[in-house]
Amino acid sequence: MRIRISQPLINKDEFLEYLNNILSNNEFSYGKYLELLEMEFKKYVGVRYSLATSSGTSALLAAFASLDLKPGDKFIVPSFTFIASASSGVFLGYIPIFADIDEETYNIRVDEVKEKLEEDDKIRAIVVVHLYGLPADIGKIVKIAKEYGVYIIEDCAQALGAEYHNRKVGTFGDVAIFSFYPTKIITTGEGGMLVTNNEDIYLKAKAFINHGRADNSYLHKSLGLNFRMSNLNAALGVVQIKELDKIIEKRRIIARIYNENLKDLVIVPKEPNYMRHVYNIYTIRVKSTVRDRLISYLINKGIEAKIYYPIPLHMQPVFKKYSYNKRLKYVEKICKEVLSIPIHPAMNEEEIHYVIDSIKKFFGYES
Ligand SMILES: Cc1ncc(COP(=O)(O)O)c(C=O)c1O
Repeated sequence: MRIRISQPLINKDEFLEYLNNILSNNEFSYGKYLELLEMEFKKYVGVRYSLATSSGTSALLAAFASLDLKPGDKFIVPSFTFIASASSGVFLGYIPIFADIDEETYNIRVDEVKEKLEEDDKIRAIVVVHLYGLPADIGKIVKIAKEYGVYIIEDCAQALGAEYHNRKVGTFGDVAIFSFYPTKIITTGEGGMLVTNNEDIYLKAKAFINHGRADNSYLHKSLGLNFRMSNLNAALGVVQIKELDKIIEKRRIIARIYNENLKDLVIVPKEPNYMRHVYNIYTIRVKSTVRDRLISYLINKGIEAKIYYPIPLHMQPVFKKYSYNKRLKYVEKICKEVLSIPIHPAMNEEEIHYVIDSIKKFFGYES
């Protein structure tokens, strides 16, 4: 048996029909699927504006570029995330301040956000990452951001459909981004989406991803590049967005089965009762002395297991000059203990129980 850590669920017949349509209409770049994806997406998340991009990373670049920041301004970002949450801001000349994470949720520590804002008045933005598909404590962070007058960029790359007090993530910040990389809740191959309720931010981001122009004329009022999504990629997204609730429900069912069967052996993911986790990644925690052996054991059994993320951002060589030799005690411990196991809507009962039984066997329990 070989079980992938993630795998999209795609209606092939529908996708092929869309491809035929693109071929007949010659709509490879702009086209109706791009419009449809943006429209369905903003309806689903519950925002006024949506902008499809070439990746989650380019959506993050556009998000930073659309705010009123100047080079040298600082932003807070959790140290436990994919590098793009921080590198996108650094690329545009902003300075990252790395924050530690909560030991239970693995998301940014709210008390640290406040402390850092209190210490440094050059901080102008916070990147709030909803890691693995679980919302960060965004309600509290919004209050703090208002108090200090700083922007919030929500990084929802892993959290499409996740909810905080029955409200979808991506609706709390000034601007939010999503990723459609193949390991995400839905995929367009490569792709991303920026959403906002602010017209000015939307128009700036739209120009940024299209050479600094408002339309397809050759009048360029600001500096931009090409970070557009193609109609071809969007077609793949349109096929899946219709199935979004089903896809998320399937992930939640698998997580529930994992939780019930593994909770006495490992630390399973937490889901506070006012949050809805979408389990884009299912991450367990074990003793650091056991972690790498468990990963090798699972891989030998044909079960893909990975570490998201083995090196915190403040310890990455590329960010050395921003780390200020600071220790972040929770993230430094947790990155040695986490491992993620397969979860995706195409998994069947047999595969789910094969993963569970393999972990049980590793810990010496026969099922
Ligand atoms: C938290 C987070 N932010 C940003 C990104 C960047 O998205 P993409 O890979 O689509 O550029 C990812 C995706 O890997 C991610 O997991």
